[in-house]
Amino acid sequence: MTKTYYLTTPIYYVNGKPHIGHAYTSILCDTFARFHRMLGEPVFYITGTDEHGIKVQKAAQEQKKEPRAFVDEIVPQFKELWRVMGIQYDYFIRTTDDDHKKVVQKILADLEKKGDIYKAKYQGWYCTPCESFWTELQLKDGKCPDCNRAVDRLEEENYFFKLSKYQAWLIQYIEDHPAFIQPEYRKNEVLGFLKEPLEDLCITRPKARLTWGIEYPGSKDHVVYVWFDALVNYVTGAGYLQDDKKFKSLWPADIHLVGKDILRQHAVFWPIMLKTMGVEMPKLVFAHGWWRIGGAKMSKSVGNVVDPIAIVQKYGSDVLRYFLLNEVTLGLDGTYSEDLLAERYSSDLANSLGNLWHRTASMIEKYFEGKVPQGKQESRFYDPKGLWEDVSKAILSYDPREAVARIWAVITRANQRVEETKPWILAKDVSKKGELADVLFNLADSVAHVAVLLQAFMPDTAHKMLNRLKMTHGETIGHVSEFCKPLVTAGTVLEKGEPLFPRFEEKKS
Ligand code: MSP
Repeated sequence: MTKTYYLTTPIYYVNGKPHIGHAYTSILCDTFARFHRMLGEPVFYITGTDEHGIKVQKAAQEQKKEPRAFVDEIVPQFKELWRVMGIQYDYFIRTTDDDHKKVVQKILADLEKKGDIYKAKYQGWYCTPCESFWTELQLKDGKCPDCNRAVDRLEEENYFFKLSKYQAWLIQYIEDHPAFIQPEYRKNEVLGFLKEPLEDLCITRPKARLTWGIEYPGSKDHVVYVWFDALVNYVTGAGYLQDDKKFKSLWPADIHLVGKDILRQHAVFWPIMLKTMGVEMPKLVFAHGWWRIGGAKMSKSVGNVVDPIAIVQKYGSDVLRYFLLNEVTLGLDGTYSEDLLAERYSSDLANSLGNLWHRTASMIEKYFEGKVPQGKQESRFYDPKGLWEDVSKAILSYDPREAVARIWAVITRANQRVEETKPWILAKDVSKKGELADVLFNLADSVAHVAVLLQAFMPDTAHKMLNRLKMTHGETIGHVSEFCKPLVTAGTVLEKGEPLFPRFEEKKS
């Protein structure tokens, strides 16, 4: 059976509306998924919502709603965002789904039988917003070492998962599989963290404090810690303990794409959970950076979030996709501002890609009555084979920014080609008609090559371009040999249409 390319986003907390930071992970995964689909591979892209835990319970209480009613209201907002952003996921998992709850309980019962879970009294400090326990030594100036907020003293009986038993194994695994955690600097960070003794993980919360969770299978008084519940989504969504055939075709996941703030859970807790479950490791945990606004992480608690829907309504989803995919190398932090986005809009989209389409279509309209002229492939001014290979290599090594750069290099080259060949001068000389046809045919063909590749990055724009080029076969090109052929057909009547990216001035509110 062909292994399906299986990729995951984190499942998002439903304690508030999604912002640009959330949209980022989903856009990245969508781009990878679309590219693999283009290559003809089966793809399974899963996303969803993380609905249990104190944060959600509190958010519901604040609105005087039952948690279930509260989450049922928020989930459609996530689904709507993914719809307007063109996110083509294959499965949407909710941790409140019955099958998921059953799998979590089954795993816990198995681990308890195995002796990897024990009950103990916990005494220490607790950070409610982070839902993390800390020892006295771990606190920084008496505050949570992760978020620097006040912590509460706690004493309670809970169930613990023996992380410590597997610490040596995990270090060895990471060292033996250098590509398991990426970027490399994040792998080193995890190994650094593992230099300290690993504490066992408290995997329950007493119902006295938290009721909104999956009931712990061995106790009526405890619910499962939200992170244990959440991480399991990656296997439940793939059919684990429910559909062996499906699970075999999907697992191991090819990539868990996560933000750097949740790397420890994915690169320490999760591998150990899988190890004790006897399940193969995912192939890759990739941590991306944060979108910042004026130096601070964009986050609900800071209160500086940007609503992606507003940006999409103003500029279109492809513009936000382009900005987020291209602005920083995957892994690094980026600065978000609407001014920057508007700058990229006018330089890269309106003046570069939009202009290339507009001038190509206008000249074909003017000099060849709107029909693609017959031209010679030998007069090509770029190398489609190299382009395909460079873009594929970049995507397969999770460098979408590099992929975008390769595509834009062709767009820039094509615009230069117009300046070099000066079709408006060629058009004045009847003896140059053949030369003019060669130039315009190859310009149109370069736009076609760009459009095919852009399907993964800017799907709306790509489809608009393919339609205007009347390239019905554009969506089926999945191999370099087909890609290298001339893609436009002489005689096709182009549809110039409205500017792909209207001038920025017209956009400003
Ligand atoms: N529910 C957990 C994940 C469980 S996965 C088994 C969670 N949810 S979250 O909603 O808080 O965050 C989801 C993702 O959004 C994380 O990968 C996080 O890094 C990402 N981002 C949240 N704010 C972000 C930015 N400002 N910038 C980039 N990504 C950010 O954590």
